[in-house]
Amino acid sequence: MLDLLGRPLRDLRISVTDRCNLRCTYCMPADVFGPEYAFLPRAELLSFEEIERLARAFVALGVRKLRVTGGEPTLRRDLPTLIAALAAIPDVEDVAMTTNGLLLPRVAADLKAAGLRRVTVSIDSLDPEVFGLMNGLGTHPQRVMDGIEAALTAGLGVKVNTVVQRGVNDAGLRELWLALRELAPVRFIEFMDVGNHNGWNLDSVVPSREVLARLGGEAGAGHFQPVRADYRGEVASRYADPEGREVGLISSVTAPFCGDCSRARLSAVGVLYTCLFASGGTDLRAALRDGASDAALRDLIAGVWARRNDRYSEERGEATAALRPKVEMSHIGG
Ligand code: GTP
Ligand code: 5AD
Ligand code: SF4
Ligand code: SF4
Repeated sequence: MLDLLGRPLRDLRISVTDRCNLRCTYCMPADVFGPEYAFLPRAELLSFEEIERLARAFVALGVRKLRVTGGEPTLRRDLPTLIAALAAIPDVEDVAMTTNGLLLPRVAADLKAAGLRRVTVSIDSLDPEVFGLMNGLGTHPQRVMDGIEAALTAGLGVKVNTVVQRGVNDAGLRELWLALRELAPVRFIEFMDVGNHNGWNLDSVVPSREVLARLGGEAGAGHFQPVRADYRGEVASRYADPEGREVGLISSVTAPFCGDCSRARLSAVGVLYTCLFASGGTDLRAALRDGASDAALRDLIAGVWARRNDRYSEERGEATAALRPKVEMSHIGG
């Protein structure tokens, strides 16, 4: 099953909540997502049974990787129950989760036991002041480090995500890499114009090639060798230092990877988005709650995929960035 640009559907990212226990300035700035902000009421969220049913439909259409996201997915009650249901779907090869790590000391072991294979933990700086400002709540980076340790202890695979913003956390990138490289591959993400509130501008993007040069210290980017992609459509370009420690670069701005994009995104209320930067999606929950059969659900999803022609990052320009309203990151989890 291919979309209009010849891309298969392989990955499904499932958001399980729009809430978060951080307020990262580039994702959920505290002045917008404040005490008055109306988060989704519980009844609006897909139940675990509904999520599982949709996931099975996606798997029947070719999806092999499932990734649970938020907001912050660990805020969803009984998450291990959902993970177990997803991991039990035949043909699912990988169940992963993207998290800020704060609750991992409490939940990592249960998630692993339920069948979660790996987590990607976000941390943007080891400097308490810088991290505190970026996460909007003054939360200390040690709390995330504790989460990473808990995940490793539980036997989960771990990767680290770091969003890079010029003049904000770029001075501490090498320090972060030196501290984390023994623990997990670190992926540096170019600051993106997701959502409608994060004040994105091109000047605050540090191009990945500059990041790599900084990580290499005196030796510059030449310190690293490229590593062959693990699979077609891999988001991060990977490099390794002479000791084989990996660094990833996610260059949505300077080197878009839409050509191989095989990802669908399901929001916590059951809207299917075919791009991280979409302005609209398809309501699968309505079909579910109207009693659609499994075959009808599959047809609905297949039809959406067949009409897909998204390639936002390749088309990115002042006009698109400024004019088009986009889905919020906290609704589709990156
Ligand atoms: P694995 O390769 O399976 O480890 O996962 P991943 O890299 O897809 O997962 P992760 O959630 O860690 O993705 C890293 C970040 O890359 C996301 O949070 C986004 O910021 C960005 N990203 C992921 N997928 C896309 C995409 O399709 N388009 C764009 N523009 N950015 C993406
Ligand atoms: N630009 C780049 N990455 C972002 N993320 C959230 N918002 C942005 C943005 N504007 C990252 C988070 C997390 C992942 C889900 O996406 O830090 O690692
Ligand atoms: Fe929460 Fe992740 Fe968004 Fe930060 S980037 S506000 S941790 S959902
Ligand atoms: Fe896929 Fe859209 Fe990202 Fe391009 S911008 S890689 S189409 S999600």
